[in-house]
Amino acid sequence: MNNPASVADTWWSNGIIYQIYPLTFADGNGDGVGDLQGIIDRLDYLNDGNPDSDTSLHVDALWLSPINASPMVDNGYDVSDYYTICPTFGTCEDFDRLLQAAHDRGVRIIMDLVVNHTSDEHSWFKESATGRDNPKADWYLWQEPAEGGEVPNNWQSYFGGTGWTYCKSRGQFYFHTFNENQPDLNWQNPEVRQAIYDVIRYWLDRGVDGFRLDASSAYSKDPDFRDNPLKYGASDPNRYDNYHHLYNKNLPENHRIIQQMRSILDEYQGDGQSPADGHRLLIGETFIDNRLFDSVTFHGVNDDELHLPLNFEFPLSPWYPGHLQRDIEKQERLTPGWGWPCYFLDNHDLPRHLSRWIKCSLCVDPLAIGKAAAALLLTVRGTPILYYGQELGMVDHEEIPPERIRDRAVVVNEGDAPPPRDGARTPMQWDNSPQAGFSFGKDVEPWLPVNPNYSSLNVEKALADPNSILNFYQQLIRIRQQSSALRRGSWRSLVNYPHEHLVYLRETSAETVLVAINFSYEKPFEVDYPLNRDDWRVLLSTDYESGKVIDLADTLKPFEVSILQKDQPYSMP
Ligand code: NOJ
Repeated sequence: MNNPASVADTWWSNGIIYQIYPLTFADGNGDGVGDLQGIIDRLDYLNDGNPDSDTSLHVDALWLSPINASPMVDNGYDVSDYYTICPTFGTCEDFDRLLQAAHDRGVRIIMDLVVNHTSDEHSWFKESATGRDNPKADWYLWQEPAEGGEVPNNWQSYFGGTGWTYCKSRGQFYFHTFNENQPDLNWQNPEVRQAIYDVIRYWLDRGVDGFRLDASSAYSKDPDFRDNPLKYGASDPNRYDNYHHLYNKNLPENHRIIQQMRSILDEYQGDGQSPADGHRLLIGETFIDNRLFDSVTFHGVNDDELHLPLNFEFPLSPWYPGHLQRDIEKQERLTPGWGWPCYFLDNHDLPRHLSRWIKCSLCVDPLAIGKAAAALLLTVRGTPILYYGQELGMVDHEEIPPERIRDRAVVVNEGDAPPPRDGARTPMQWDNSPQAGFSFGKDVEPWLPVNPNYSSLNVEKALADPNSILNFYQQLIRIRQQSSALRRGSWRSLVNYPHEHLVYLRETSAETVLVAINFSYEKPFEVDYPLNRDDWRVLLSTDYESGKVIDLADTLKPFEVSILQKDQPYSMP
């Protein structure tokens, strides 16, 4: 362990991370595809460096989905050269300009590092595939066919179908956790490790502030390539979800790899105060059959692995207070004392939370759910990650014509492959001009169609509307920045078995914040917690007009959020 600052002092435990999907965030050159210049042009919206301005979100770091060279079968999650920027997005010099402009505003840049696999167009794979006798012959997971020319074992691809693809030039199969164009690297090979660690150093030297490790629990595989056991009762052997992924995921060696990566980052740690000065962050996509219990093991046993393992149980929870509270409690109990939780609701692989939750709850009012969800995400104990457009209340585009689908990696209708993910990746909605202000190109089509709701839902409009979800996010971010209890305080619920509301405290020795959220879309919530009215002030409430303080006999309207604060520890009156 080489952690100079305790977790409470780090920028990433105090801050907010914003995920950008570069293909659709902002198009700076008018070709219809998002790029680095587009991001630079929109930096003021994300953080203009002036804490008092109300046209900015004031986030602390940007996680960029992959921008390295790629044939784009999986839209960047298939890298063909780790040392260059994909020309679609710009050049290495553009990246340096982005880094500088972000750092000037105090904003960090986190790169997506996709090293479980490369693209099949990476020169490493091309060389490896030429035959069994070349310097990179052992850089990927090659196996002999089983009897009768069958696949070597029962490992499935997450994107559907078998995980093995035959390569004529070698007379062997190679394994791919994802699409056949994304061959998995052989992490047993020390040369592979060295090559990836060189990539890590290269970008750290260039000034990036950390990485989000893609598929970071899938690096190591069983050296004997044993079959995965089928789950009890499962009959279809061609479905990914029907297996316990005992031999191709989350093996002990995987933790050693992350430790090695972490120790490289630790070499770069400064005192963490300025972007140029270090404290680099390691986030990992620890998606192991969606189990938080496995995910938290990636903190390591001695603060020597990930700083922030991504927790998928929370975003996949249904919109019910009881479920959400259980997920938070689980996260609280499982996170080691020196560790730090991390929460998100949306990302580029999931349908957007408003689309998910409106479908499964009885409420059809995105404004109400959007604000309640925002309050939850920004007041639990942990680093929140926002996905672009979530702060507007963007929902999935559900009518993208088949010929415009860009998610070519998933093998539609085979096995249990997930459906294409384009609905949650449509262009950022900036204003109500053509193409939602995403691109100024007149005769080009945007990379994905703009969601038709852009004329009523866009940044320009939302900034001018005090009642917008965006305005509410801005206020939440502001109160979070001003309250050490909200940033760092402990978390404790005041309700044991929440049914239609959540009420919890964030506490430090000098300050208490109480968060109450009514999840019912029709019933008021009678607040039955004894609160001494004089002690509390309203930090934020969805009931703007009254600015009232909730009290024993008081009620929260459907979907109302109240966030109260006092300068003492909480004690029952
Ligand atoms: C996880 C990424 O989030 C997803 O978008 C990608 O398709 C797979 N890993 C493969 O890299």
